[in-house]
Amino acid sequence: MRLLFTPARSMPVSAPTCLAGAPVALPMLRAVLRGLGHSVLRRPHRRVSASGSRGWCNGGGDGEGRPGPRRAQDGRACFTTPIFYVNAAPHIGHLYSALLADALARFSRLRAKPPPGPGPAAPLVRFSTGTDEHGLKIQQAAAAAGLTPSELCDRVSAQFRALFQEAGVSVSDFLRTTEARHRRAVHHFWGVLRARGLLYKGLYEGWYCASDECFLPEAKVTWRPGPDGESRPEALESGHPVCWMKEENYIFRLSQFREPLRQWLQDDPQAVTPEPFRLVVLQWLEEDLPDLSVSRGNSHLYWGLPVPGDPMQTIYVWVDALVNYLTVTGYPDSEHKVWWPTTHHIIGKDILKFHAIYWPALLLGAGMTPPHRIYVHSHWTVHGQKMSKSLGNVVDPWTCLDRFTVDGFRYFLLRQGVPNWDCDYYEKKVVKLLDAELADALGGLLNRCTATSLNPTGIFPEFCPSCFPSVEGVTVAPAKAQPEDYALVRSVSALPLQVENYYENFQIYKALEAVSTCVRQTNSFVQRNAPWKLNRENLADAQWLDTVLHVTLECLRVFGLLLQPVTPALADKLLSRLGIFETERGLRDICFLPRYYGQPCPFEGRRLGPDTGLLFPRLDKSRARLAKVHST
Ligand code: MSP
Repeated sequence: MRLLFTPARSMPVSAPTCLAGAPVALPMLRAVLRGLGHSVLRRPHRRVSASGSRGWCNGGGDGEGRPGPRRAQDGRACFTTPIFYVNAAPHIGHLYSALLADALARFSRLRAKPPPGPGPAAPLVRFSTGTDEHGLKIQQAAAAAGLTPSELCDRVSAQFRALFQEAGVSVSDFLRTTEARHRRAVHHFWGVLRARGLLYKGLYEGWYCASDECFLPEAKVTWRPGPDGESRPEALESGHPVCWMKEENYIFRLSQFREPLRQWLQDDPQAVTPEPFRLVVLQWLEEDLPDLSVSRGNSHLYWGLPVPGDPMQTIYVWVDALVNYLTVTGYPDSEHKVWWPTTHHIIGKDILKFHAIYWPALLLGAGMTPPHRIYVHSHWTVHGQKMSKSLGNVVDPWTCLDRFTVDGFRYFLLRQGVPNWDCDYYEKKVVKLLDAELADALGGLLNRCTATSLNPTGIFPEFCPSCFPSVEGVTVAPAKAQPEDYALVRSVSALPLQVENYYENFQIYKALEAVSTCVRQTNSFVQRNAPWKLNRENLADAQWLDTVLHVTLECLRVFGLLLQPVTPALADKLLSRLGIFETERGLRDICFLPRYYGQPCPFEGRRLGPDTGLLFPRLDKSRARLAKVHST
């Protein structure tokens, strides 16, 4: 059911139909496979305009002929970020992962149906994040920093928590894997796997990469000379050092799950999104799928959860970490069943195999369903290079939030970040985008149309149906609307559904691009009709002037509502200036331009909210000049 944005009356013009999508090209798959390795992907060209080749699909789905995802009947959904390693301070890549999840969670909240009946509604949307605190990587980082693992975890976990709070990441649960509730969940999960005969003890040997916390096949290891000229083994893809390990471990019967995993990915074509990443996973399933070592001897890995009943073994950090997604649903208590089937994971491409192979296999092994959706994103690079502490090019998120404002930086990352491709970060790009789209286009529009020079009474102006008849083509006075004005109404009417489709398909950047296109179109509408040239003393002019302002404020209201998940404070400022009450900000309340459709408009005649200054001050030249590359 996708009728959220149906206008009060159907459009007098026909909506464009859905276009069939082209199959994913082989070169794209190759590019994604390459991108999962060390190479940097660049977007080949500018993205397709949202208003361009995509149609407005009334029947749901992604505009490419695929069905929309299954959602819980009542709109219940649980969003997760990966839990972050605490070996180093957060950077903008981590923040990006969290913001993608935040925007999806916020969007979902805006459209969640409140349960019937009186009393406070229980939240229908959950959103969890947290820190991944066990394992060799943390153990080694703590030793290098001269701290105990627990001191390092407390310190860095607090940094992640504070950053997310500062950046408006609206989490409902922040989990640390060192918490007792998590230990209980992991131990229970382990017990279920063991009881189902899926764990056995055996000799496991191979290359292990502590930085990536994974075993690597011979083919994924290369030898390169170290600083002393001596050849050393390292992970082919990440470049991190590896060492040979041979020991008795608990082993999970992963090899049994090739067919069920394939089935899951084939039955639900949206299980892993975007599509090229699903194809990558299917490709992996064609390759060797050996059983997985899921514990380490505690003589070299003591910082972790012990295997129940065998304290000489420590549970593999990825099994420990993945179970966090169950812990936050209340697992193993029965309440988790309300949430588990609705879970949407947001992850970076580097951890795809853990989430799309190991995790669903472990879940199937435990008799549970795989996650509802796995949304995969690519990475941020800096001047074409991977961000890394050793290269000294890590971009500090605090500095960015400070310089570009919280909403500005959120907008930048989500507008520019394209899940399929790596994206390059540089400051000039941020300034240019924010000045053009938030300060000039959106802020300028609001400023112009609420200014006392055009609207001296400060009241939401009246729409005149005879000036803007709902049937296009009337040329008899007082009709004034031109074909381009009808085109604007069509675009903004279609926008909410278009945006919803983009969110459903993890294309937040396209949702923002579509809004930005409509903002530009609205500016042209104002420019074309030049309300400042109209004379309020003349009745016909005054009616048209008010109609132009009414249409513009209605457009701005739609933009404000749709921007809430990405720029919550800026959207609040915009909607407050328009006099829109908090209770009128759900996505069900959009109902654009009701007067055009012959319905009453609740805002018409209402006093506008107070003028609290510029919507988004330009990041002017002096501030830009002060900007210097900040690294941690
Ligand atoms: N601890 C594991 C996840 C366990 S989830 C059960 C982990 N942690 S991480 O801190 O290394 O990465 C967390 C997230 O940040 C991942 O989604 C990763 O892809 C993302 N990013 C790390 N560097 C990034 C960029 N340069 N750009 C965008 N996202 C990046 O993996």
